[in-house]
Amino acid sequence: MASPILGIDIGGSGIKGAPVDLSQGELAADRVRIETPEASTPEAVADIVAGVVEAQRSHLDEGSAVGLTMPSVVQHGIVRTAANIDKAWIGVDADALFTERLGRPVHVVNDADAAGVAEMHYGAGKGVEGVVLLTTLGTGIGSALFVDGQLVPNTELGHLELDGHDAESRAASSAREDEDLSWEEWAERLQRYYSHVEGLFWPDLLIVGGGVSKKAKKFLPLLKLRTPIVPAGLKNEAGIIGAAWHAQHLG
Ligand code: BGC
Repeated sequence: MASPILGIDIGGSGIKGAPVDLSQGELAADRVRIETPEASTPEAVADIVAGVVEAQRSHLDEGSAVGLTMPSVVQHGIVRTAANIDKAWIGVDADALFTERLGRPVHVVNDADAAGVAEMHYGAGKGVEGVVLLTTLGTGIGSALFVDGQLVPNTELGHLELDGHDAESRAASSAREDEDLSWEEWAERLQRYYSHVEGLFWPDLLIVGGGVSKKAKKFLPLLKLRTPIVPAGLKNEAGIIGAAWHAQHLG
């Protein structure tokens, strides 16, 4: 096995990192998870990320690259939005910040884009041509759009308007939890969301990621769509794996 590359997924609730074996698209050691600090400012998050790197250091080559995801639009390393993370991130050159802090080359990418790339290489989208759309259902809704395997970055389809609301505030997994919705009630919202999305993009395949994709049997069969819709193959590890993939290939 080639030396693993560290992938770190920064989410609204936890910061998770593990070395990834990119020849298989698998974690090469157990992941480390640390709670995201209440004030998720660049400094506070950088401290935690440094702790995750330290905890996994024994698995990594000296000076090897690190891939990081953020729940934000990340345009050429610069954070442009911060829907579920401290607003102080907006405008920060995250590639430069983490590269300096960690003393390793760091490549930062949107969390859903990272998960999507992992699914296209190793998971539910492997070998699928045409238009593939992955959505992650978590604190927010993330999206990753592929055309013949090529990513169109930063699509942000979680922020489509749905019934006069930001779609993710109605249909993310957090809405189900916060409003104590039954699976059926939540599925009605997902139905409206995915009907809208498929009418706009006409995908060949929809992939559903995020932690709740482990429970896909409870809600995917309730949806009536013309597009095939399947759970992510890599479950919640796709972000970590895709982050490492980006660091290796684009860092
Ligand atoms: C953000 C996206 C992110 C998604 C999932 C949304 O609120 O705008 O950039 O991919 O949440 O974390």
